[in-house]
Amino acid sequence: MAVVVLDFGSQYTRLIARRFRELRAYSVILPGTAPWRVIEREEPEAIVLSGGPSSVFAEGAPRPAPEVLEGRVPVLGICYGMQYLAHAFGGRVERRGRAEYGRAVLTHFEGPLFQGLTGEVQVWMSHADAVTRLPDGWRVVASTEENPVAAIQDREGRFFGVQFHPEVSHTPKGLSILENFLEHAGVRRNWTPGRVLEAMIADVRERVADSRVLLAVSGGVDSSTLALLLARAGVDHLAVFVDHGLLRLGEREEVERSLRPLGVNLRVVDASGRFLQALAGVADPEEKRRIIGHTFIEVFRVVAEEAGPFRFLAQGTLYPDVIESAGGFGAAKIKSHHNVGGLPEELGFELLEPFRHLFKDEVRELALLLGLPDPIRLRHPFPGPGLAIRVLGPVDEQKLGILRRADDLFVSLLKEHGLYQEVWQALSVLLPVRSVGVTGDERRYGYTLVLRAVTSVDGMTADWARLPHDFLDEVARVIPRRVPEIGRVVYDLTSKPPGTIEWE
Ligand code: XMP
Repeated sequence: MAVVVLDFGSQYTRLIARRFRELRAYSVILPGTAPWRVIEREEPEAIVLSGGPSSVFAEGAPRPAPEVLEGRVPVLGICYGMQYLAHAFGGRVERRGRAEYGRAVLTHFEGPLFQGLTGEVQVWMSHADAVTRLPDGWRVVASTEENPVAAIQDREGRFFGVQFHPEVSHTPKGLSILENFLEHAGVRRNWTPGRVLEAMIADVRERVADSRVLLAVSGGVDSSTLALLLARAGVDHLAVFVDHGLLRLGEREEVERSLRPLGVNLRVVDASGRFLQALAGVADPEEKRRIIGHTFIEVFRVVAEEAGPFRFLAQGTLYPDVIESAGGFGAAKIKSHHNVGGLPEELGFELLEPFRHLFKDEVRELALLLGLPDPIRLRHPFPGPGLAIRVLGPVDEQKLGILRRADDLFVSLLKEHGLYQEVWQALSVLLPVRSVGVTGDERRYGYTLVLRAVTSVDGMTADWARLPHDFLDEVARVIPRRVPEIGRVVYDLTSKPPGTIEWE
């Protein structure tokens, strides 16, 4: 029993399924053109037609199976989906003079989709075509100033269409609209994180069967949760944690402490000497990344060969990591960008990516169920190249040590003051710039440490965090006292864009 989301190539399709999960309804995504027998297998309780880049009147425009139009279960069309319904039932869709993009406010709304909504209803528009004539018996159930046909429905209340995107956060009451659709369709809402986990475990067991799985653990929440999932599923796995010498203070011990007691078959490989040697004297950020990626693959290859053979490589890839070409689900060539990107092609693994449809907060929910300790579960993102891209210029043991101690003080103080969870990511950067200072009667010539803390939703854009001045003052006093190699502490006020979160 599921809400079947038929994907016509919108960048928001996964978000639609995610919203239904939030509403505790089980939801699956199928290619927009999936035949009815495939849809039927999911026992659909409701069907959603996603948005997409095509024009319904263009030749070869993707269309759903004809049975979808028989109204066996309620159907909601979003954007392209709505235009398709209007077109298929005999209405007219035309290209607008110019695309409508951005926020709009509903000037009128009525009917089951908008039940219980009061006050201003803001919606997010993103379309070039518009419905200009309704099919017989259909009516408009919402309008905006610019767009008289913002939502439609048929006479029997089996088919609905919205021109805007209820699934995005820019439609603040969108979740209520989707919930109204579920209620109207009588969809059962019993899909909890516990059930998601059970289903995922069953899937992994079935796919892996008696084969062996190799996994690279980075110490972040995604790969750690994945390791726990494999352990819980009881599949034959080896989790490899490569200590590249570019980790934060105590990170390796934390990973060991967190995963081993929960049944993860963990192997820690200390390759720090090899990484530091390869990085010696290298200042260019892209070159550092390349060397680290390359060395990682080499180290991993040795482990895979020694401990192998493995059929699968498991990766904690999340939906936002998945970059899809415009072809949409099914046809899309999906490319993973990840710390261990390149491994499957090099080593001939099959990929196992159980989280590829999930968002980070959903993985954190699973992590909680699997018992991942909070220090890892709630940890800020940390880049694969680690501290190497936070020591600007050439990396060496001494500078890494300085940064490690200073960063640990910054992060510990954030936690102590209850600010750690208030920011999306906090980090320190060691500049190769020294400045003159004085302590007592002594002249100092210390390094500069940059503190960076940002707020963000997904790391794509970010703003610098307005940390309290008193807190920054405390950090700026404590660090040079405890890490005497640092003479000056500065706070980074750059947002993204124009800056990136990391400095390299
Ligand atoms: P930027 O610096 O591009 O970073 O604004 C956005 C987010 O991605 C993280 N980041 C990386 N993560 N490998 C990773 O796994 C990398 O090479 C890498 N570079 C940046 C960064 O920490 C931030 O969370």
